[in-house]
Amino acid sequence: MSSSCFLSPSPLSPSTTTTSLVRFNPTKCKALSVSGDYSCFQVKGLTYRPPGTENNLLNDVNFSLHEKSLGLIFGRSGSGKTTLLQLLAGLVKPTSGSIHIQKYDKDGIPNQAPELLPPERVGIVFQFPERYFLADTVLEEVTFGWPRQKGSAQVKEQLALRLQRAITSVGMNGISLDEDPHALSGGYKRRLALAIQLVQVPDLLILDEPLAGLDWKARADVVKLLKHLKKELTLLVVSHDLKELSNLVDRSWRMEMGGILKEEPLPI
Ligand SMILES: Nc1ncnc2c1ncn2[C@@H]1O[C@H](COP(=O)(O)OP(=O)(O)OP(=O)(O)O)[C@@H](O)[C@H]1O
Ligand SMILES: [Mg+2]
Repeated sequence: MSSSCFLSPSPLSPSTTTTSLVRFNPTKCKALSVSGDYSCFQVKGLTYRPPGTENNLLNDVNFSLHEKSLGLIFGRSGSGKTTLLQLLAGLVKPTSGSIHIQKYDKDGIPNQAPELLPPERVGIVFQFPERYFLADTVLEEVTFGWPRQKGSAQVKEQLALRLQRAITSVGMNGISLDEDPHALSGGYKRRLALAIQLVQVPDLLILDEPLAGLDWKARADVVKLLKHLKKELTLLVVSHDLKELSNLVDRSWRMEMGGILKEEPLPI
């Protein structure tokens, strides 16, 4: 599953959200209202116990998420939501369990063996990502970590194209690449953080509290942006802002204390 292109900044169209929820069946990936082959992210038996500790922070987490849909995880502070995202992004190694991509035919039958999800195919936007901005310009911030050696012109051209698409898809065309990232408004800082991840063209984009700390206007902008991105990407979001995101949500889960994940409709 690869997201080979970014969206144009065309007007945002209404979401074709599937909000119906079925009894939790971790091995079943629900088809959305689209026909044809599709793929799903499948998390199976994910358990995490930090080395040298006695308790699991995540306990046998199982779920699946259809491509180009949005899954939302909610739950009390300290239940393990961020820990789960860190595992999915490959930042922390699970004690046991796996994260795969499974492809299905149009009848929902697996049509090949599941593939391991490589961490480089996952983008993560941390909570308050702007706190980690390091550079003096938007361009440097987005290209931070790019290969510095004299690469081939073709590689540079491809990176430049991806940069342009990422900036466009988060609606930052009007912002100069020379702008100081720290001088941007809260909403634009959040867009920049998203663009940084989109340059890598991830299959799965995970976001930890994407609306936290923003004013009402910026929050509404980020919600619109996520709706737009969902047409091309699979999104997994952790948030306490259930009402504002509810129209985008295809599947939702509650993380219970002790790192136990259960599928559950949004309590709104
Ligand atoms: N490396 C670690 N070693 C031991 N305990 C940890 C470690 N990292 C996190 N924890 C603990 O794991 C639990 C889950 O933390 P986590 O940050 O995942 O919760 P959360 O659901 O994201 O909470 P919040 O909603 O406040 O962001 C907390 O009790 C936290 O203190
Ligand atoms: Mg957290």
